[in-house]
Amino acid sequence: MPKTRKKVAVALLGLGTVGLAVAELLEKNRQLIESRVGASLELKSALVRDKAKARPGLPPGVVVTDDPSAVLDDPEVDIVVEVMGGFEPAYAYLRRAIEGGKHVVTANKAVLAKHWDDIFHLAHDRSVDVYIEASVGGGIPCVQAINDGLAANRIERLTAIINGTTNYILTGMASNGQSFEKALKDAQAHGYAEADPSFDLDGMDACHKLAILGSIAFDQRVRVEDIHLQGIRGISKQDIDIARVEMGCVVKHLAMARVRRSDGALEVQVVPALLPLDHPLAGVDGVNNGVLVSGDAVGEVLFSGRGAGGGPTASAVISDIIFVARNVAVGVAGRVPSIPYDVEKVQSRRIVPAEEISNRFFVRLTAVDQPGALAAIARVFADHAISISSVAQNEKEKGSTVPVYVSTYSAPERAMRECVAALERLPTVRPNTLVLRLEVPEA
Ligand code: NAP
Ligand code: HSE
Repeated sequence: MPKTRKKVAVALLGLGTVGLAVAELLEKNRQLIESRVGASLELKSALVRDKAKARPGLPPGVVVTDDPSAVLDDPEVDIVVEVMGGFEPAYAYLRRAIEGGKHVVTANKAVLAKHWDDIFHLAHDRSVDVYIEASVGGGIPCVQAINDGLAANRIERLTAIINGTTNYILTGMASNGQSFEKALKDAQAHGYAEADPSFDLDGMDACHKLAILGSIAFDQRVRVEDIHLQGIRGISKQDIDIARVEMGCVVKHLAMARVRRSDGALEVQVVPALLPLDHPLAGVDGVNNGVLVSGDAVGEVLFSGRGAGGGPTASAVISDIIFVARNVAVGVAGRVPSIPYDVEKVQSRRIVPAEEISNRFFVRLTAVDQPGALAAIARVFADHAISISSVAQNEKEKGSTVPVYVSTYSAPERAMRECVAALERLPTVRPNTLVLRLEVPEA
């Protein structure tokens, strides 16, 4: 029988939005959490940049330090919880913790997406646990659900809203008429945005998360470089309104991975897209995230809930702490990898290059309102073998230019990129074209 332990010691790397919420929730639900672990949990220390900063709500007794060695080299610390963010020194500290035989819980999707293989191989070599629930979906336990709960299935498709900040902004613009800038400020004030919010707005945060979920769901390594990426900048309230009125759709920032029927290759993209109002993800609003997974046995499963913010993320972090602490308490930590790390041995589907992915499109052009303008536009689409499914132009928007919305049938991304370049060479089209995907099945 393995030895049992009465106490498990935890240390935090970072005491910001997530770190403080973890400390507070551990204290608030201590009795319940410890009864679930089967041992007492000591939150021993926390690493920060600025020791002098006030940490309202931090329970007494936690040593706050700016010396990484005080945490990483402390022989009494069993579990290091990395909630610092950024690539470095976070990755170096994670490695150091693992090399020192400490179990790790991390919310850092940027480091995971970049160093996935190294982290899980090192953890395997050193027989330590690495748990990552909070890295995707905030409070939604989607990592464990896909990794364990759906493990019997061949996953065919994953469509997700996995960035709370961009969803909060798009929802604010759609329902309250908030400006992009005001909605972003609100998201930052709530602690939803990354330290550098361009990671949210330009889609890299969702891209990191799709690399993680994709690597688990499709049994093969999905790398950031494999993902076709477009953020949400440039989308206006007017675009969102037209999408609803003309197309019966909402605009969402989607992370999508799907096995292509024709050849079994994998398409992975993070792109703004129109979704029909009755789509399961259409009503996932505000800071909420939604992950829709399609498995060959289970069919469609939807996970949704708050995708960012201190409380929900602490919920996910502490669920991982509980798993690891239980393992430590009964002496079996590090025996079973939490994530299958040798995924390349399982599958090796071709990943479709971004330019070859086929989508339907919803394109906003800024056109000079004069005879022949629309005919010239239609000609360019035809020249690129892209078939138009509808056109909308609102007379009320008429000035020297007018927005023209063109939706299309399915075409390769390369054809659309070349089409936009040709459209913007027309004397009647101005250069701020917006290209969204249209996630509406062809009739
Ligand atoms: P945050 O509020 O910016 O907090 C970062 C914390 O890390 C701060 O306490 C900071 O110290 C500390 N820190 C940063 N760099 C450090 C360094 N070089 N040395 C020592 N300490 C350092 O970030 P957060 O929102 O809590 O996010 C933390 C992580 O969780 C990130 O990986 C993020 O992507 C992930 N995450 C966040 C959310 C969310 O909703 N916020 C949700 C899921 C996952 P000071 O306080 O002294 O500055
Ligand atoms: N910035 C991230 C988001 C935090 O808005 O979704 C949660 O991972």
